[in-house]
Amino acid sequence: MSQNAAARMLDDQIVNEWFPVANCSDAQPGSMYPFLLLDGRYVLVHGADGVVGVFEDICPHRGARLSLGTFDGDRVQCPYHGWQFATSGECAFRPAHPTMPIPDGCSLSSVRVQRAYDLYWVCVGPAPRNLPVYGAFEDKPGLTVALGPKPMNACGPRIVENFLDVAHFPYVHANYLGQPPHTEVRDYEVAVTETGLEATNVVAWQPRPGPTSVEGGDVGYVYGMSHPYSATLTKVPTEANGGELGGFSLLLVASPETETTCRVWLLTTINDPDGDLQSFLDFNTIIFSQDVDIVESQLPKRLPIDPRREVHQRADRMSLAYRRWLADRGIRYGTTLND
Ligand code: FES
Ligand SMILES: [Fe+2]
Repeated sequence: MSQNAAARMLDDQIVNEWFPVANCSDAQPGSMYPFLLLDGRYVLVHGADGVVGVFEDICPHRGARLSLGTFDGDRVQCPYHGWQFATSGECAFRPAHPTMPIPDGCSLSSVRVQRAYDLYWVCVGPAPRNLPVYGAFEDKPGLTVALGPKPMNACGPRIVENFLDVAHFPYVHANYLGQPPHTEVRDYEVAVTETGLEATNVVAWQPRPGPTSVEGGDVGYVYGMSHPYSATLTKVPTEANGGELGGFSLLLVASPETETTCRVWLLTTINDPDGDLQSFLDFNTIIFSQDVDIVESQLPKRLPIDPRREVHQRADRMSLAYRRWLADRGIRYGTTLND
């Protein structure tokens, strides 16, 4: 990151947000999991004793990448001069001076990590905010399946905005989430809530609302936003397509490697305790892949915040509310406020 970019980050609230960095199942005890987040290089270290730490993936000695070294479940060993670090981040051994006391300042810099929704989440800033609210995960234990991390050459806000967009269904998701001539977007409501934004009464006619659908019909959507790089939706199809039981919830979250590249997770939580999670994962994998080329093609790469930078239609009410909310929350990263 350039010095200018680093200075800009200091007053950007993005640093105080939590982002997912790994599936818990991909970062098992005894392993290291390197990742990029907000232009920084980090490594998650999961000790054989179960302790999980996240550190800058930069050796304090000469800046080598620690994750190129080794981890035996107890100590990380730097690939360059062999310094060893405990899972607490403390420097435990310097081979060039095996008997000398280890001075202060040799430890790794750590950042906050927590586990939620079967993912590890990291916050690099000093004043962490809330995780995205996703009640379905706890309300329906064992009924969630995760798609991700999926790399995407787009900024987080463009990815979220696409998730909130209903007017593209008949074109990008033809035969699944929409179908001409059912192109009209009916009016819906957007409200500011205690935790963020909510869009209700969103109704779309869909030929195949989900993997268990048997016929086309209206589908009711409720969208929620409580985190700037994330959104949720719950979807309830008609009775013929299973009604409430045939419905499901989604949590989308974009984890930014840089301003314009992300790793994306899409969690699906189904309502039917006897439902086939794999079929929903397969369905959402198709839907997700249909969006990628379009979202990666959008210019400017950063999401325009000034309403005059793009033109709008009535169906974009939610996207305009989202853009205002991002600015109000002090988020510049991934938006044209950083141009
Ligand atoms: S750079 Fe890591 S031990 Fe020297
Ligand atoms: Fe889409």
